[in-house]
Amino acid sequence: MKAQELKKLYLEFFKSKGHAVIPSAPLIPEQDPTVLFTNAGMHPLIPFLSGQPHPLGRRLASVQKCMRTQDIDEVGDASHTTFFEMLGNWSLGDYFKKEAIEWSFEFLTGKKWLNLPKEKIAVTCFQGDHDAPKDTESAEIWMKLGIPTERIAFMGKEDNWWGPVGETGPCGPDTEMFYWVGTEKPPRKFDPNDKNWVEIWNDVFMQFNKTKTSVLLVDGMHCLYDKEFKLNQELLEVVNSFKVKKILVVNGFREKGGKLLANYGFEAFSLEEREIKKDNQKYFKDLLSRYNLKPEEVIYFDHAPENVSTAKKAGITSIVYQNVQQAKAFIESNFYHFTPLKQQNVDTGLGVERVTMVLQGKSNVFETELFQPIFKKLNSLAREKINERNIYSYRVMADHLRAATFILGDERGVAPSNIDQGYILRRYIRRTIRHGKKVGMPAGFCIPVIDVIIGMYTGEYPILKTKRSFIVEELTKEEEKFEHTLEKGLKEFERLAAQGNLSGKDAFLLFQSYGFPLEMTEEMADEKKIKVDADGFLREYEEHQKLSRSGAEKKFKGGLADLSPDVIKMHTATHILNEALRKVISKDIRQRGSNITPERLRFDFSFERKLTPEEIKKVEEEVNRVITADYKVTRKEMPRSDAEKLDAQKEFGQKYPEKVSVYFVGDYSKEFCGGPHVQHTQEIGHFKIIKEESVAAGVRRIKATVSREPRS
Ligand code: SER
Repeated sequence: MKAQELKKLYLEFFKSKGHAVIPSAPLIPEQDPTVLFTNAGMHPLIPFLSGQPHPLGRRLASVQKCMRTQDIDEVGDASHTTFFEMLGNWSLGDYFKKEAIEWSFEFLTGKKWLNLPKEKIAVTCFQGDHDAPKDTESAEIWMKLGIPTERIAFMGKEDNWWGPVGETGPCGPDTEMFYWVGTEKPPRKFDPNDKNWVEIWNDVFMQFNKTKTSVLLVDGMHCLYDKEFKLNQELLEVVNSFKVKKILVVNGFREKGGKLLANYGFEAFSLEEREIKKDNQKYFKDLLSRYNLKPEEVIYFDHAPENVSTAKKAGITSIVYQNVQQAKAFIESNFYHFTPLKQQNVDTGLGVERVTMVLQGKSNVFETELFQPIFKKLNSLAREKINERNIYSYRVMADHLRAATFILGDERGVAPSNIDQGYILRRYIRRTIRHGKKVGMPAGFCIPVIDVIIGMYTGEYPILKTKRSFIVEELTKEEEKFEHTLEKGLKEFERLAAQGNLSGKDAFLLFQSYGFPLEMTEEMADEKKIKVDADGFLREYEEHQKLSRSGAEKKFKGGLADLSPDVIKMHTATHILNEALRKVISKDIRQRGSNITPERLRFDFSFERKLTPEEIKKVEEEVNRVITADYKVTRKEMPRSDAEKLDAQKEFGQKYPEKVSVYFVGDYSKEFCGGPHVQHTQEIGHFKIIKEESVAAGVRRIKATVSREPRS
């Protein structure tokens, strides 16, 4: 049976069971920051699996284009590809285990359908753990259908649990179907690790929502800082490593506590002590609703057992705080939660490539009609024809060019770049070109192959034809760019490799000067049985990013909307304001952020209370005094340590490179800054504060503006 027929039959079968057929969603997801590509048929359905009603009803089926970049290293074996099509059927709170399993079985073994022999089918079910019980229900349904116990294996989360797609979301236990592809009769006892048993279908019972802790609620005094208000560094490290975003502090030292935490970059809140005393039950309910939180998103530490037990009653994961080790262990084992979804869903998936291979009795996916035309084309172009030694290169090229065609030719197609989907695409193309070089492909060989792929799929995905010129253009550009440096880069690689393992600097040189993605260098090193210091590479990469960012900031310092004269004037006014606040209000004030548009400047700073009208007036007067004094604004480049010795103002949380530029307003103010600024302060004109308000615990915000004409 050909792949086309398999897809047609599948949709027909599920239509006969009352399913509506939905079209494939784009490969590049619209609004999911957690993954780069749609990686399963269920992915576009997440909102509906979470309870939102689907316009086409509660039974759906589809053929979805998918990409699993994590499988890239396995490409070349019998059954892994990066791009693939997935068949799937869903119940959105409609049928559950019984129907799902019975229909899977009917489609696989039914005479009208795939007609596979029952004796060659085996299944796995979830063995159970502290998140969900053993799935004996599924096993019993399989037994009723005639699958003997020896052909049913129970396995753990790594094997029989699916999802969530990203870090959080719908997920659940699954039951997986395997088909015997060996030439001999299958052994009586099923061994999921035997390569002759190939996984072909997965029925997921999506009944849980995986959530994570986003808020740490602490009795600040005892848990986060001591009587001297020194932060507990160890606990903060734990919190940081888990990426907890918000911390709520709940004791009498709230103001100082909140401020301290804000200094550490947390969104910190503090709560009135009297609230917790007044009505404990209500306190936690109010708290959750005030911050729009579900109980499972919160972990609570308190030294007072009575508070902890009230929190527990409100469904909040909590513990009486003892010490850092205990808190750390508690966060580790309670950071994620599995809570029942509103509805019980079914999510099933079969890979078209793999099932086609099984149905055709082939030993690998590349032997099916889904790859053969691509191989034929590659073979006709290459100097070195397909043989046992170079088959791996052919498989990589075929897989990656198919993937590249679908990324470029997606509804949301992207071009090669150094980030996100664009980087994956670049890796695919460059890896293809390198393998092409090994088998003597001519320059520009990708385009004729791409045309074969477009031809194969355009009936089902007409968008590929519509986007052909974009695909060809981008691919040609990328090919030309890389072919240009590949030769030299390979020589450089040989030179470096001759000296042994590659350092991070070496790998970064290959990346920076010759466009070798790290993974490609690793693959080449692997072929030579030497190692690459990948961590070192990442350090080099980050260092470089920082430098180029600080270069860009020379012109567009963070927070400047543009470089119009008004923005520049307000930028200098911001420096003066920063210093004026320290001179007039408190020497402890520090900048927390700034943002400047042609209409106004916005300046955030650390201070625990509202400014009085008199203070605001004084600040205004001070800034205008400095403006009128017509200080000269100058800039000096110096090592960071020198600037620090000068005690120049820095923006909190900002990382500065080794060499920095410092702006001086006469001898009035000095700040780490990339500019630009006015040359003389009189250019600024008249300064006026429009608003003073709070933005977070211990952080205030001033909005101000300058008049258009400079004062004379
Ligand atoms: N989401 C499951 C899978 O990808 C079933 O569709 O296998």
